[in-house]
This record gives sequence, C-alpha cells and structure tokens, in this order.
Amino acid sequence: MSTLKIRPATEADLPFVTEIYEHAVRHGTATFELIPPDLAEMTRRYRALMDGGFPYFVAALDGQVLGYAYAGPYRPRPAYRFTVENSVYLQPVIHRRGIGLQLLQRLIAECEPRGYRQMIAVIGDSANAGSIGVHTKCGFQMIGTHPNVGLKFGRWLDTVMMQLAIGEGGTTVPADDAKS
Ligand SMILES: CC(C)(COP(=O)(O)OP(=O)(O)OC[C@H]1O[C@@H](n2cnc3c(N)ncnc32)[C@H](O)[C@@H]1OP(=O)(O)O)[C@@H](O)C(=O)NCCC(=O)NCCS
Repeated sequence: MSTLKIRPATEADLPFVTEIYEHAVRHGTATFELIPPDLAEMTRRYRALMDGGFPYFVAALDGQVLGYAYAGPYRPRPAYRFTVENSVYLQPVIHRRGIGLQLLQRLIAECEPRGYRQMIAVIGDSANAGSIGVHTKCGFQMIGTHPNVGLKFGRWLDTVMMQLAIGEGGTTVPADDAKS
C-alpha cells in the first residue's frame, strides 16, 4: 500500500509546487499574489531559501507531490533573524485529510534544531478557515487581524496573524548567536 511521505523538497519537485501554487494564486485568497510565478521564479525562490538554510518539505504519494511547506525569513532586517514565516499549500482535492497538519508539524519540528524561536503565519483572508484551523491545531496563537489590507477578486481582504513559539521561544536568549 502506498504511504504518504513528508520529505525535503528537491528541484525535481518544483514543477508540482509551481502548479499547486498557481492554482492558489489564480483561485484563492490565501496568497495576495495576483500573477502566478513561473517555474523559473519558483526555482529562484527555492534556491534563495536553501542558500539561507531554511527548511522546505513536500508531501509525496507515489511520486506525486500533493503539497508543500516551507519556512522563510519573516522580515529582512537582521534583528528578525530568529523568526520565520511559514507557507503551506496543498492540491485542492486533498484538503482536510491531515496532510497540511503533517507538513506543518514537520516544518515546526525542523525549525527548532535550526535555532529558530518564533514562527509567524500571515494568513490571507479571515474566511480561510482551513489555514486558521491547521495553525490552531499546531498550537499557534491568534495575534490579531489587519483588516482590509489586500484587494483581490474585487473584494477587500484581511490578513490574520498567528504565532508559535519554537523551542525555548522568548524565554531565553540564544547563547550562541550563530545567526548574527
Ligand atoms: C490550509 C491547508 C494547508 C490545510 O491543510 P489540510 O490538509 O486541508 O488540513 P488538515 O486536514 O491537516 O487539517 C488539520 C486540522 O485543521 C483544521 N482544519 C482544516 N481545514 C479546516 C476547515 N476547512 N475548517 C475548519 N478547520 C479546519 C481542523 O482542526 C483539522 O483537524 P480535523 O480534520 O481533525 O478536524 C489547506 O487547506 C490548503 O492548502 N489551503 C489552501 C492554501 C492555504 O490556505 N494555505 C495556507 C496559507 S497561510
């Protein structure tokens, strides 16, 4: 029997990733991008994350990539270096089967040994019950909502900010400030 595998993404997975994200850009409000990035752009983004030492996973079944999740820099200024922002996207047909949860849990688990202390989810659209739900299940706290900051498909969209402390979070200051 085939089993779902959560594994690090490779460049060979990026055509699948590009297709999954293209659907989300064209039809969804989770992302505020309006024009789907092509494979070359998704490859450039992937390489930038790899060069920065960030984790990137896919959920694969029988050689098919069903979804992906990665962590990247939250904001570029260096004091944010222990904080990551996450992204998780699945093929629409396999929503609500626990795959988003598995991807996100693996991503969080991988961020701890890499020394990250906070993970931020910037969720497009207050109506995105799936994303709010999966982040809540992973222990993220609701921070608040920026109302009406995006305009897509002719309607104003909120962003919902959720946050998870990773490892020791803000209770200690890293002894080895390796990310300076
Ligand atoms: C958000 C997304 C990754 C969630 O992945 P998923 O595999 O569908 O979610 P899971 O089946 O792992 O759900 C885990 C838990 O999250 C919650 N949840 C998931 N979908 C939900 C929904 N539509 N409504 C309410 N709660 C939901 C539930 O608590 C669920 O656990 P349960 O099924 O045991 O009740 C997926 O729906 C997706 O790709 N959405 C479009 C893109 C997107 O919004 N990405 C997030 C960008 S911030």
